[in-house]
Amino acid sequence: MQIKNIFDKMDYGEAPESAREAQNWLKNHNYTFGNFINGKWKQCEDHFNTVNPANDQVLAKIGQSSPSDIDSAVKAARAAQKKWCKESDHARARILYAIARLLQKNSRLFSVLETLDNGKPIRESRDIDIPLAQRHFYYHAGMAQLMQAELPKRSPIGVCGQIIPWNFPLLMLSWKIAPAIAMGNAVVLKPAEYTSLTALLFAEICTSAGVPNGLINIVTGDGKVGEMIVGHKDINKIAFTGSTEVGKLIRERTAGSGKSLTLELGGKSPFVVFDDADLDSAVEGVVDAIWFNQGQVCCAGSRLLVHEAISEKFYNKLRNRMKNLRLGSPLDKSIDMGAIIDKKQHKKISGMVSQTQGKVFQAGSPLPQEGCFFPPTLITDLHTADPLMHEEIFGPVLVSTTFRTPSEAIELSNNTTFGLAASVWSENINLCLELAPKIKAGVIWINGTNMFDAAAGFGGVKQSGFGREGGWEGLLAYSKPKNQFSPKIKSTLVKNQISKADYIDRTAKLYIGGKQCRPDSGYSQSIFDHNGKPVTQVPLSNRKDIRNAVEAMNSAKNWSHSTAHLRAQILYYMAENLSARKAEFANTLQALTGRSDAQTEVEQSIQRLFFYAAWSDKFDGSARSVPLKAVALVMKEAIGNCGVLCDDQYPLLGFISVMAPLFATGNRSIIIPSETFSPIVTDFYQVLDTSDVPPGAINILTGKHADLAIELAGHMDIESVWSFSPSDVSRDIEKASVSNLKRTWVNNGCGRDWNSEEGFGREFLENATENKTIWIPYGE
Ligand code: NAI
Repeated sequence: MQIKNIFDKMDYGEAPESAREAQNWLKNHNYTFGNFINGKWKQCEDHFNTVNPANDQVLAKIGQSSPSDIDSAVKAARAAQKKWCKESDHARARILYAIARLLQKNSRLFSVLETLDNGKPIRESRDIDIPLAQRHFYYHAGMAQLMQAELPKRSPIGVCGQIIPWNFPLLMLSWKIAPAIAMGNAVVLKPAEYTSLTALLFAEICTSAGVPNGLINIVTGDGKVGEMIVGHKDINKIAFTGSTEVGKLIRERTAGSGKSLTLELGGKSPFVVFDDADLDSAVEGVVDAIWFNQGQVCCAGSRLLVHEAISEKFYNKLRNRMKNLRLGSPLDKSIDMGAIIDKKQHKKISGMVSQTQGKVFQAGSPLPQEGCFFPPTLITDLHTADPLMHEEIFGPVLVSTTFRTPSEAIELSNNTTFGLAASVWSENINLCLELAPKIKAGVIWINGTNMFDAAAGFGGVKQSGFGREGGWEGLLAYSKPKNQFSPKIKSTLVKNQISKADYIDRTAKLYIGGKQCRPDSGYSQSIFDHNGKPVTQVPLSNRKDIRNAVEAMNSAKNWSHSTAHLRAQILYYMAENLSARKAEFANTLQALTGRSDAQTEVEQSIQRLFFYAAWSDKFDGSARSVPLKAVALVMKEAIGNCGVLCDDQYPLLGFISVMAPLFATGNRSIIIPSETFSPIVTDFYQVLDTSDVPPGAINILTGKHADLAIELAGHMDIESVWSFSPSDVSRDIEKASVSNLKRTWVNNGCGRDWNSEEGFGREFLENATENKTIWIPYGE
C-alpha cells in the first residue's frame, strides 16, 4: 500500500506488539507453574489452565495450592519476618529499590504478559499498569528509608495474607506488597486465578533483587485458596481487593480473630457533568472512566449524571465518540478496548444489559471473531431506583440519568451503598470544590478521572471497603502503634466499690439529641456496692433508644461541616465547665470507684479535653507531590455516625478520651459509658448542656454492653464502632459490622492504660477520620 492510499482511507494499520519474549518465558517454565515459597519454586499436585481471553488459547497450567502449601508459605513468611523487621531502614529500602529497578528493566515483558493473561490493551498495561507498579516500589523504598525517622511509634504487623483480583494483576500486587515489606512485614500473596502470570514473573524478579527467602511468597489457586489464607491462624493481617460479596465473607470470617483487615471493594462511581463543563473533554473523560480496561475497574465512572439542560447534546457527542472506539487484539497498540476477562464475566455483563428497561446504545463497531469481547454500551432513561443504577456491572456499560441542581447531583451521587470514587466536571472550579466534600467517596477527581499515584491514598468509604493504599495513610494499614492495647493490662470488669453513704442518689436518664430522656424499655439497671447492695440505678437502653439516638445524629449532620475552630471552642468550653465542678466530680468519682486518685483523673480529663481542642484545628490534610500536572489534596473527614463502648478503668477519663477525638473531628456519636460506673458520665450531661454542644452531636446511652454492642454494630446508619469494653464483645461487633461494612476498632479483651500515652494521641484521631483524596488537574 502506498502512503497516498493511506491518506485517502485514513484507516488504522495493524500495530501488533510481539509476544515472543513472553512466550519464551512460558516455554522456559514448561508452561507449568507451582508456588513460590521460601524463595523456591514448589510444584503443586493439582493445576488449572490460564487462558488468553482474546483468543481462548491456553497459556499455561497454574498450581492449585493445598492447605499444606499455604502452611509452608506462612511458616516461611514468619521466619523471614523475624529477621526482616530487624534489618535497618536503609537495608529494606535498598531491596524495594532493587525490585523497582528490575520491574523497570523488564517492563515490556511484564506488559505483554499482563496483556496476554488479562486481555487488556497493551497501551494500558505498558503505559499505566506497569509504570504505576514500579512507582509504588520506588515510593515505598522511600517509606522504608524514612520509617524510624518519621514513624518512630509504629511497628510492623507481622505476616500479611494478601488476596488480589484480576483486573490490575501486577498493579494490585505492588499496591499490596510494597507498603507491607517497606514497613517490615512479610507476605503470602495470592493472585486471582484468571491472572497469576505476572505475579509469578514477579517472584523471579524477587530472587534477582535479593529479597530474602520467605519474605515474599506467591501462592496460586482459586477462592478456596483465598479462604485458606483468611482462616490461617498464624497470619496477622488480611488485605483483600475484590468483590463486595467476598469482602463481606472475609469480614465475617476474621471477626474476633484479632487479624487486622483492609478491604478494597466494588463501586458504582458517579461521573457528574454540569452544563458549564468543557463537554468535549468530559466525553474523553467518560471514555477513560468506563471503557478503560473494558470497564473492569473498581472505581470506574459507571454512573453518568448529566445536567438536564445539556443532556441530549452530551449524549449525542458521546454516541458519536463511541462509534470511533476500536475493539480488537489487545496486543495491537492502537486499539481502544481489549477482551473481557472470562466467559463467566461476559455472561454476567450481557445478562444484566439484556434485562434493562432503559434505552441501550451500542455503536455497532465490529467485534473480533474470536475471544471474549463486549461492545461499549450506554444505557439512558433509567429511573434512579433501577437496579442497574446501583449494581456493579464490572464491564464496559455506562448507565445514565439527569439532574437539575447541584444539590440534586449530590443526592444522586450519594444514592448508592458504595463510596469509592467520583468525577465532577465543570469549568467552575468553585462548584466542583463545593461538591467534593459532600460526595461520600474516598477519591474525587475534578475535571478528570482515573488518576492514581503511590503518593495519594486510594480506597473507599461505605461498602466500598476500608483502608487506604498509597501515601502516608496507606502505611497505617501495614504498621501498628508500638503501644497498641498493652497486653500488660487485661481488661476486666471492675468490682464496684460504691458506698451508699458517699453517693447521692440521682435520677439518671439517657442523653439523646441534647435532651435527657427516659429509656424506651422502662427498665433500669442497679448499681451495686462492693457488698452487693444496690445504691443507685441507671436506665437500660435498648434498640429503640439506639434508633432515636441515630435519628438525632442524622439531624446533626451539619456538625460534620462545622469549622474546626468551633469544635475546639466547644471542647475548651467543656473543659472550663468541668474545671468549675472539679471537686464535685472528684468526690463522685471517688465514691463510685473507691479510688484515691479521683482528683487526678478529673484533672487529666480536663487536660484531655484541652488536648483534643488543640488538635481539632491542627489535624490537617495535606497536598501530595504527584508526578502529574495535578494537585492531590488529602483531606481528613469525619466518618459520620459513630458508636463507642467505654472501659471500666478510669470511667471519666476513659469516656472523655473517646468522646473528645470523635467530637474534635466532627463526628456524631453514641457513647455507652462503663457499665459499672456510668453515673459519673450521666453527671456529665450538665457539662454538655452548658458548653454549647449541638443537639445530637453527642448522645449517651447507659446499659448492657453485650446487648448494645450488637445493636450498634448491626445498625445500617452507624458508620463506625469502637469498643474498649471489658465485656467480651469484639467478635460480635466485627461480625455484625458486615451489615454495612462499618469501620471497627476493638480491643479483643486487652486493656488500655488511659492514664498513659496509650490513652490519647494521633491513633484516636486517625481512627475517627477518613482520608479523602481530591485530584485537581491544572494547566490548559
Ligand atoms: P472475587 O472477589 O471472587 O475474587 C477476588 C479474589 O478473591 C480472587 O483472588 C479470588 O480467588 C479470591 N476469592 C474468591 N473467593 C474467596 C473467598 N471466599 N475467600 C478468600 N478469597 C476469595 O471476584 P471474581 O469472582 O473474580 O469476580 C466476581 C465479581 O466481583 C465481578 O463480576 C466483579 O463485579 C467483582 N469484582 C470487583 C473487583 C473490584 O476491584 N471491585 C475486582 C474483581 C471482581
